[in-house]
Amino acid sequence: MFGRRSSCFCCFCSIYYILIICFSLSFLIFWLIFLPQEPKFTITDASLTQFNFNKTNNTLNYNLAINITIRNPNKRVGIYYRRIQVIANYRKKRFCLVTLTSSPFYRGHKNTTDVHDVHIEGSQLMKFGNADISQFNKETTARVYSIDLQLALRIKARFGKLKTRNYKPYRKIDCKLKVPLSLNGTYANGFKANKCSNVYFFHNPDIDED
Ligand SMILES: *[C@@H]1O[C@H](CO)[C@@H](O)[C@H](O)[C@H]1NC(C)=O
Ligand SMILES: *[C@@H]1O[C@H](CO)[C@@H](O)[C@H](O)[C@H]1NC(C)=O
Ligand SMILES: *[C@@H]1O[C@H](CO)[C@@H](O)[C@H](O)[C@H]1NC(C)=O
Ligand SMILES: *[C@@H]1O[C@H](CO)[C@@H](O)[C@H](O)[C@H]1NC(C)=O
Ligand SMILES: *[C@@H]1O[C@H](CO)[C@@H](O)[C@H](O)[C@H]1NC(C)=O
Repeated sequence: MFGRRSSCFCCFCSIYYILIICFSLSFLIFWLIFLPQEPKFTITDASLTQFNFNKTNNTLNYNLAINITIRNPNKRVGIYYRRIQVIANYRKKRFCLVTLTSSPFYRGHKNTTDVHDVHIEGSQLMKFGNADISQFNKETTARVYSIDLQLALRIKARFGKLKTRNYKPYRKIDCKLKVPLSLNGTYANGFKANKCSNVYFFHNPDIDED
Protein backbone atom coordinates (compact mmCIF):
# COMPACT_ATOMS: atom_id res chain seq x y z
CA MET A 1 0.00 0.00 0.00
CA PHE A 2 2.74 2.39 0.93
CA GLY A 3 4.66 1.42 -2.19
CA ARG A 4 1.76 2.34 -4.45
CA ARG A 5 1.29 5.65 -2.78
CA SER A 6 4.92 6.63 -3.07
CA SER A 7 5.08 5.67 -6.75
CA CYS A 8 2.03 7.84 -7.35
CA PHE A 9 3.75 10.68 -5.56
CA CYS A 10 6.79 10.17 -7.75
CA CYS A 11 4.77 10.30 -10.95
CA PHE A 12 3.27 13.55 -9.70
CA CYS A 13 6.66 15.01 -8.97
CA SER A 14 8.12 13.97 -12.31
CA ILE A 15 5.26 15.74 -14.10
CA TYR A 16 6.04 18.74 -11.98
CA TYR A 17 9.72 18.64 -12.96
CA ILE A 18 8.90 18.12 -16.64
CA LEU A 19 6.66 21.19 -16.52
CA ILE A 20 9.41 23.27 -14.95
CA ILE A 21 11.94 22.10 -17.53
CA CYS A 22 9.52 22.80 -20.41
CA PHE A 23 8.80 26.25 -19.08
CA SER A 24 12.47 27.12 -18.63
CA LEU A 25 13.33 25.79 -22.08
CA SER A 26 10.62 27.80 -23.80
CA PHE A 27 11.70 30.89 -21.93
CA LEU A 28 15.30 30.28 -22.97
CA ILE A 29 14.29 29.75 -26.62
CA PHE A 30 12.18 32.92 -26.55
CA TRP A 31 15.13 34.86 -25.16
CA LEU A 32 17.57 33.40 -27.70
CA ILE A 33 15.28 34.29 -30.62
CA PHE A 34 14.97 37.90 -29.54
CA LEU A 35 18.29 38.38 -27.75
CA PRO A 36 17.49 41.90 -26.67
CA GLN A 37 20.31 44.39 -26.53
CA GLU A 38 20.24 47.52 -24.45
CA PRO A 39 19.42 50.79 -26.23
CA LYS A 40 22.18 53.36 -26.44
CA PHE A 41 21.89 56.86 -25.06
CA THR A 42 24.26 59.61 -26.12
CA ILE A 43 24.38 63.25 -25.12
CA THR A 44 25.39 64.71 -28.46
CA ASP A 45 25.42 68.35 -27.48
CA ALA A 46 25.36 70.46 -24.34
CA SER A 47 25.58 74.20 -23.97
CA LEU A 48 25.77 76.03 -20.72
CA THR A 49 25.03 79.74 -20.81
CA GLN A 50 24.69 80.29 -17.08
CA PHE A 51 26.06 78.53 -14.04
CA ASN A 52 26.42 80.92 -11.11
CA PHE A 53 26.41 80.20 -7.45
CA ASN A 54 25.63 83.11 -5.16
CA LYS A 55 27.22 82.42 -1.77
CA THR A 56 25.13 85.05 -0.03
CA ASN A 57 21.82 83.40 -0.67
CA ASN A 58 23.11 79.93 -1.63
CA THR A 59 21.35 80.00 -4.96
CA LEU A 60 22.53 78.30 -8.09
CA ASN A 61 21.35 79.88 -11.34
CA TYR A 62 21.69 77.60 -14.29
CA ASN A 63 20.82 77.41 -17.94
CA LEU A 64 21.79 74.28 -19.79
CA ALA A 65 20.49 72.91 -23.07
CA ILE A 66 21.19 69.38 -24.24
CA ASN A 67 20.51 67.11 -27.18
CA ILE A 68 20.03 63.40 -26.58
CA THR A 69 20.19 60.63 -29.15
CA ILE A 70 18.58 57.30 -28.40
CA ARG A 71 19.30 54.27 -30.54
CA ASN A 72 17.52 50.97 -30.44
CA PRO A 73 20.02 48.46 -31.85
CA ASN A 74 17.61 45.53 -31.84
CA LYS A 75 16.32 43.88 -34.98
CA ARG A 76 13.34 42.20 -33.35
CA VAL A 77 12.64 44.19 -30.22
CA GLY A 78 10.74 47.48 -30.32
CA ILE A 79 10.78 49.98 -27.48
CA TYR A 80 8.11 52.47 -26.49
CA TYR A 81 9.34 55.39 -24.44
CA ARG A 82 6.46 56.54 -22.29
CA ARG A 83 8.24 59.18 -20.26
CA ILE A 84 11.74 60.50 -19.91
CA GLN A 85 12.94 62.47 -16.93
CA VAL A 86 16.25 64.25 -16.89
CA ILE A 87 17.76 64.86 -13.47
CA ALA A 88 20.71 67.25 -13.29
CA ASN A 89 23.24 66.98 -10.47
CA TYR A 90 26.31 68.90 -9.47
CA ARG A 91 28.62 67.23 -6.94
CA LYS A 92 25.95 64.55 -6.45
CA LYS A 93 23.42 67.20 -5.45
CA ARG A 94 20.32 67.48 -7.56
CA PHE A 95 19.55 70.94 -8.88
CA CYS A 96 16.88 70.22 -11.47
CA LEU A 97 14.43 67.64 -12.71
CA VAL A 98 12.80 68.01 -16.10
CA THR A 99 10.04 65.76 -17.39
CA LEU A 100 9.92 65.67 -21.14
CA THR A 101 6.36 66.27 -22.16
CA SER A 102 6.66 65.10 -25.73
CA SER A 103 4.10 62.44 -26.44
CA PRO A 104 5.18 58.84 -25.99
CA PHE A 105 7.04 57.54 -28.98
CA TYR A 106 7.81 54.17 -30.40
CA ARG A 107 11.21 53.18 -31.68
CA GLY A 108 11.20 50.15 -33.84
CA HIS A 109 14.05 48.22 -35.09
CA LYS A 110 17.50 49.66 -35.57
CA ASN A 111 16.09 53.14 -35.28
CA THR A 112 17.54 56.31 -33.84
CA THR A 113 15.65 59.13 -32.14
CA ASP A 114 16.86 62.63 -31.48
CA VAL A 115 15.51 64.46 -28.48
CA HIS A 116 16.79 67.96 -29.09
CA ASP A 117 16.74 71.14 -27.09
CA VAL A 118 16.04 69.87 -23.62
CA HIS A 119 16.17 72.98 -21.47
CA ILE A 120 17.38 72.75 -17.93
CA GLU A 121 17.11 76.22 -16.50
CA GLY A 122 16.12 78.04 -13.36
CA SER A 123 17.52 78.63 -9.91
CA GLN A 124 17.84 76.31 -6.98
CA LEU A 125 18.81 76.65 -3.35
CA MET A 126 21.87 74.42 -2.81
CA LYS A 127 23.57 73.11 0.29
CA PHE A 128 27.18 73.33 -0.76
CA GLY A 129 29.90 72.39 1.67
CA ASN A 130 33.43 73.78 1.56
CA ALA A 131 34.67 71.01 -0.72
CA ASP A 132 31.80 71.67 -3.12
CA ILE A 133 32.53 75.38 -3.19
CA SER A 134 36.23 74.92 -3.75
CA GLN A 135 35.51 72.53 -6.63
CA PHE A 136 32.98 74.98 -8.01
CA ASN A 137 35.55 77.79 -7.88
CA LYS A 138 38.12 75.60 -9.61
CA GLU A 139 35.70 74.79 -12.38
CA THR A 140 34.65 78.43 -12.68
CA THR A 141 38.29 79.32 -13.35
CA ALA A 142 38.53 76.58 -15.97
CA ARG A 143 35.06 77.47 -17.32
CA VAL A 144 34.18 73.79 -17.59
CA TYR A 145 31.71 72.22 -15.17
CA SER A 146 31.23 68.56 -14.28
CA ILE A 147 27.53 68.02 -14.47
CA ASP A 148 26.03 64.57 -14.04
CA LEU A 149 22.76 63.83 -15.70
CA GLN A 150 20.56 60.90 -14.86
CA LEU A 151 17.81 59.68 -17.14
CA ALA A 152 14.83 58.01 -15.53
CA LEU A 153 12.57 56.28 -18.00
CA ARG A 154 9.31 54.52 -18.23
CA ILE A 155 9.20 52.11 -21.14
CA LYS A 156 7.40 49.28 -22.79
CA ALA A 157 9.06 46.63 -24.94
CA ARG A 158 7.62 44.75 -27.87
CA PHE A 159 8.74 41.25 -28.83
CA GLY A 160 7.06 40.49 -32.13
CA LYS A 161 3.38 40.79 -31.29
CA LEU A 162 3.90 40.57 -27.54
CA LYS A 163 4.01 43.79 -25.57
CA THR A 164 5.20 44.16 -22.01
CA ARG A 165 3.43 46.40 -19.56
CA ASN A 166 4.81 49.83 -18.81
CA TYR A 167 7.73 49.51 -16.53
CA LYS A 168 10.34 51.59 -14.91
CA PRO A 169 13.85 50.17 -15.15
CA TYR A 170 15.23 49.80 -11.68
CA ARG A 171 18.34 51.84 -12.43
CA LYS A 172 18.72 55.36 -13.69
CA ILE A 173 20.98 55.91 -16.66
CA ASP A 174 24.13 57.92 -15.92
CA CYS A 175 25.62 60.55 -18.21
CA LYS A 176 28.68 62.27 -16.82
CA LEU A 177 29.35 65.50 -18.65
CA LYS A 178 32.03 68.13 -18.78
CA VAL A 179 30.26 71.18 -20.09
CA PRO A 180 32.11 74.34 -21.15
CA LEU A 181 30.49 77.62 -20.22
CA SER A 182 29.50 79.86 -23.11
CA LEU A 183 30.23 83.46 -22.36
CA ASN A 184 28.65 86.52 -23.78
CA GLY A 185 26.60 84.74 -26.39
CA THR A 186 29.69 83.19 -27.92
CA TYR A 187 29.01 79.56 -28.22
CA ALA A 188 31.65 77.49 -26.47
CA ASN A 189 32.62 74.48 -28.45
CA GLY A 190 34.66 71.72 -27.02
CA PHE A 191 31.83 69.59 -25.75
CA LYS A 192 32.45 65.98 -26.63
CA ALA A 193 29.51 63.69 -27.35
CA ASN A 194 29.18 61.41 -24.41
CA LYS A 195 27.76 57.92 -24.19
CA CYS A 196 25.69 57.25 -21.12
CA SER A 197 26.30 54.22 -18.94
CA ASN A 198 24.32 52.04 -16.62
CA VAL A 199 21.62 51.13 -19.13
CA TYR A 200 19.82 48.04 -17.89
CA PHE A 201 16.41 47.49 -19.42
CA PHE A 202 16.64 43.85 -20.30
CA HIS A 203 19.51 42.55 -18.24
CA ASN A 204 19.75 42.42 -14.55
CA PRO A 205 22.94 44.20 -13.49
CA ASP A 206 23.27 41.92 -10.48
CA ILE A 207 23.48 38.87 -12.72
CA ASP A 208 25.55 39.82 -15.73
CA GLU A 209 27.75 42.78 -15.27
CA ASP A 210 29.92 44.02 -18.11
C1 LIG B 1 23.70 87.43 -4.20
O1 LIG B 1 22.43 87.49 -3.58
C2 LIG B 1 22.27 88.61 -2.74
C3 LIG B 1 20.93 88.50 -2.04
O2 LIG B 1 19.90 88.17 -2.96
C4 LIG B 1 22.40 89.89 -3.55
O3 LIG B 1 22.30 91.04 -2.71
C5 LIG B 1 23.76 89.89 -4.25
O4 LIG B 1 23.86 91.02 -5.11
C6 LIG B 1 23.95 88.61 -5.06
N1 LIG B 1 25.31 88.57 -5.58
C7 LIG B 1 25.57 88.44 -6.87
C8 LIG B 1 27.01 88.35 -7.24
O5 LIG B 1 24.69 88.35 -7.70
C1 LIG C 1 19.78 84.98 -4.99
O1 LIG C 1 20.53 85.84 -5.79
C2 LIG C 1 20.38 85.69 -7.20
C3 LIG C 1 21.26 86.70 -7.89
O2 LIG C 1 22.58 86.49 -7.60
C4 LIG C 1 18.93 85.90 -7.59
O3 LIG C 1 18.77 85.65 -8.98
C5 LIG C 1 18.06 84.96 -6.81
O4 LIG C 1 16.71 85.22 -7.10
C6 LIG C 1 18.29 85.13 -5.31
N1 LIG C 1 17.51 84.15 -4.61
C7 LIG C 1 16.79 84.45 -3.54
C8 LIG C 1 16.03 83.32 -2.92
O5 LIG C 1 16.77 85.59 -3.07
C1 LIG D 1 12.47 55.18 -37.68
O1 LIG D 1 11.19 55.47 -37.12
C2 LIG D 1 10.51 56.56 -37.74
C3 LIG D 1 9.23 56.83 -36.98
O2 LIG D 1 8.58 55.65 -36.66
C4 LIG D 1 10.25 56.19 -39.20
O3 LIG D 1 9.62 57.29 -39.84
C5 LIG D 1 11.59 55.90 -39.88
O4 LIG D 1 11.37 55.49 -41.22
C6 LIG D 1 12.35 54.80 -39.12
N1 LIG D 1 13.67 54.64 -39.72
C7 LIG D 1 14.18 53.44 -39.99
C8 LIG D 1 15.57 53.44 -40.54
O5 LIG D 1 13.57 52.42 -39.80
C1 LIG E 1 21.15 70.32 -30.95
O1 LIG E 1 19.82 70.68 -31.24
C2 LIG E 1 19.69 71.99 -31.80
C3 LIG E 1 18.21 72.25 -32.00
O2 LIG E 1 17.60 71.21 -32.70
C4 LIG E 1 20.48 72.06 -33.11
O3 LIG E 1 20.40 73.37 -33.61
C5 LIG E 1 21.92 71.68 -32.85
O4 LIG E 1 22.64 71.65 -34.08
C6 LIG E 1 21.99 70.31 -32.20
N1 LIG E 1 23.38 69.97 -31.95
C7 LIG E 1 23.93 68.87 -32.42
C8 LIG E 1 25.38 68.65 -32.09
O5 LIG E 1 23.29 68.05 -33.08
C1 LIG F 1 31.11 90.53 -24.75
O1 LIG F 1 30.35 91.20 -25.74
C2 LIG F 1 30.61 92.60 -25.86
C3 LIG F 1 29.64 93.20 -26.86
O2 LIG F 1 29.28 92.26 -27.83
C4 LIG F 1 32.08 92.78 -26.27
O3 LIG F 1 32.37 94.16 -26.35
C5 LIG F 1 32.98 92.12 -25.24
O4 LIG F 1 34.34 92.18 -25.65
C6 LIG F 1 32.61 90.66 -25.06
N1 LIG F 1 33.39 90.07 -23.98
C7 LIG F 1 33.98 88.90 -24.06
C8 LIG F 1 34.71 88.40 -22.86
O5 LIG F 1 33.91 88.20 -25.07
